[in-house]
Amino acid sequence: MEMTGRIAFVSRLSIRDEELWLQALAGALPEENILPVRKIASGDLCGVQIAVVANPDPADIARLTNLKWIHSVWAGVERLVAEPGLAALPIVRLVDPELARTMAEAVLAWTYYLSRDMPAYARLQRQHRWQQLPYRHPAELTVGLLGLGTLGTAAALRLRSAGFNVSGWSRTAKNTDRIERFSGAAGLALLLARADVLVCLLPLTPETHGLLNRERLALMPTGASLIHFARSPIVVVDDLLAALNSGRLSHAVLDVFDVEPLPQHSELWEHPKITVLPHISAPTNKETAAAIVAKNIRDYRSSGVLPRTVAMNHGY
Ligand SMILES: NC(=O)c1ccc[n+]([C@@H]2O[C@H](COP(=O)([O-])OP(=O)(O)OC[C@H]3O[C@@H](n4cnc5c(N)ncnc54)[C@H](OP(=O)(O)O)[C@@H]3O)[C@@H](O)[C@H]2O)c1
Repeated sequence: MEMTGRIAFVSRLSIRDEELWLQALAGALPEENILPVRKIASGDLCGVQIAVVANPDPADIARLTNLKWIHSVWAGVERLVAEPGLAALPIVRLVDPELARTMAEAVLAWTYYLSRDMPAYARLQRQHRWQQLPYRHPAELTVGLLGLGTLGTAAALRLRSAGFNVSGWSRTAKNTDRIERFSGAAGLALLLARADVLVCLLPLTPETHGLLNRERLALMPTGASLIHFARSPIVVVDDLLAALNSGRLSHAVLDVFDVEPLPQHSELWEHPKITVLPHISAPTNKETAAAIVAKNIRDYRSSGVLPRTVAMNHGY
């Protein structure tokens, strides 16, 4: 088996950001020659077997005619999976405990933001109103987690440690200590009905696209809130706005949008019941991510076995 060859870094990042990734990858994998695809001579492109990618242009990938597999440095791979030319290749996505820790921290932080009524106190302050709202102990609240994968499970455990009740929804049914788990459409309805705070950490797939629509949001308790840290199209934004405007939902923390950066004219910026975050819930740590990519590539070089790849039939 041919186990050598150049590694291409393929991205649409700025030159500066690309350089930072290349530095991190070279530091973690000094024995390999990792080059941005634009710096590989056209005659050498056919020698590239592995591409490390960050939002790649499919046309660049198509130039690598002998590519064996793709390693994404992002956890979400919906764009790669949806690209017909790329979906034929095995795709490995980033599974990084540091990313999971960061996401779990964000989920806990923004759950506290909601459970300790910070949006309401900010409003009261603007109105110069001194009003104490009833304290809610974490044990009085249930957080519903959509997605119990690498990130969702880390978030669930962090929330449990902080004393919140946690219910989770995943595609396949599983048992996890101290976390009530649901699957399927009926399971989703049960979870929504008990979620005082709903946290979305699902991948974007054909099944999850538009999942949180008017009917499903209406199943949540009155006054419940949403934290959306996954991908924008999972939530139908107009239906979310209707639920907030009618008072059915009390607040939404949104980290992901159909167009990013969120356009200046978007009504979401000014909405009193929406917190807009600039896609910061779990930034990728280049050093830890590069170490994971390095381990996966080294294991492949020594054994010829690919790390766990994305299940194309499920889209994640
Ligand atoms: N905002 C940010 O900064 C940021 C950063 C990183 C990632 N993300 C997003 O977070 C997402 C999740 O990442 P991850 O690493 O935790 O993914 P993951 O490990 O693949 O977990 C995905 C979870 O979703 C469940 N799921 C998938 N399709 C489903 C369906 N149709 N019905 C019910 N459950 C379903 C899976 O169920 P099973 O357990 O049964 O497979 C699994 O529990 C990524 O796809 C990305 O979009 C956002």
